[in-house]
Amino acid sequence: MLRYFTTGESHGEALVAVLSGLPAGLKIDQSYLDRELWRRQQGYGRGGRMKIERDTAHILSGVRQGNTIGSPISILLENKDWKNWQESLPVGEGDPAKHKAVKSPRPGHADLAGALKYNFPEARYILERASARESAARVAIGAIAKLFLRELGIEVLSHVISVGGASLGEAEVPWDLIRPLAARQEILLSCADATVEAQMKEEVDKALKTGDSVGGVFEVVAHGVPPGLGTYAQWDERLDALLAGAVMSLQAVKAVEIGVGVSAATSMGSAVHDEIGYEGSSHTGFSRRGNHAGGVEGGISNGEEIRVRGYLKPISTLRRPLQSVDFATREPVKAAYERSDVCVVPAAGVAAEAMVALTLARGALEKFGGDSMGETLRNFQGYCEQIKNF
Ligand SMILES: Cc1cc2nc3c(=O)[nH]c(=O)nc-3n(C[C@H](O)[C@H](O)[C@H](O)COP(=O)(O)O)c2cc1C
Repeated sequence: MLRYFTTGESHGEALVAVLSGLPAGLKIDQSYLDRELWRRQQGYGRGGRMKIERDTAHILSGVRQGNTIGSPISILLENKDWKNWQESLPVGEGDPAKHKAVKSPRPGHADLAGALKYNFPEARYILERASARESAARVAIGAIAKLFLRELGIEVLSHVISVGGASLGEAEVPWDLIRPLAARQEILLSCADATVEAQMKEEVDKALKTGDSVGGVFEVVAHGVPPGLGTYAQWDERLDALLAGAVMSLQAVKAVEIGVGVSAATSMGSAVHDEIGYEGSSHTGFSRRGNHAGGVEGGISNGEEIRVRGYLKPISTLRRPLQSVDFATREPVKAAYERSDVCVVPAAGVAAEAMVALTLARGALEKFGGDSMGETLRNFQGYCEQIKNF
């Protein structure tokens, strides 16, 4: 079974991600991992932190001579900012006078709930782990999951649907327009429509000017997924539930939609369900008139593109802070401010790609198994043959 977790704090020495359960013999392209990490760091409206960090994936274990060897993979991402925090966040006791307390919790962040839960008098340790810096570690192992999926002909990418009030609308953006976005050398807001992207930039400019922040919607698209990943057989094996949980687990994602899930609730059945034909497609002879289902029916991938949208709330650290309370005195004060992003919709899309890729890779390994890539691919090809001849 594919398992993964991350460790590390935002201003600690490093992040570490562990990915266990991949077959041996998968070629690992270091430059691809670093490119994915770079993509997560881009986007108009990022804060000063992203100018300090330039993430590179330092693979510690599980890969030798360019290939996975079947043992757990661990990856270290150095925090370049650590040099500025060694005295305020030491592992040892250090000098308490140099600690940087977060004295008033930010509404919308984990500060207050976390301080209450872990019984800390202020929120420094809370934001250190709650911070989305952690998502970089997920992107590193997500890139490996993507390399695995590529061997099965599956690609996972994202694009931005809306930022604040600027939106692409409901029409499905074709894969051919999404793919080039990931190859861009300059990433603004990862929108497939240049006019709407300019409007999105204006939304961020508005937030920058007023000391505010802005959220939006991204869409992750998994292209080339065969029918048959996930199952309705148990509630916790349904692919839609697993995808929703994976994307919702990202910082600031507050709603997840698969296909046209939200508008489907107010539409008639005849306008929602994707009629079935038999005209040939990549995996079977069956075809669909549309993809309102977002590639999942009954908790199983149905052979269409998987489309998952993440709805991102605005960043909670505001340059013009909201009202809060001083942890020590309980007097009303403004919420703490620390250098922060203003808009992260494209970056969150990249992190969500990683979560979708990890979820699909786990589903594929549950279905096809295999301890070596040769075995996995043999099983996969046998299954493809079966559904082609169905
Ligand atoms: C890529 C990315 C970058 C983020 N950067 C910031 C940031 O700079 N400042 C901030 O307050 N929140 C940022 N967030 C959001 C917070 O991490 C998040 O709102 C907080 O941890 C509370 O969790 P919740 O919003 O999921 O409830 C970011 C989220 C993502 C996905």
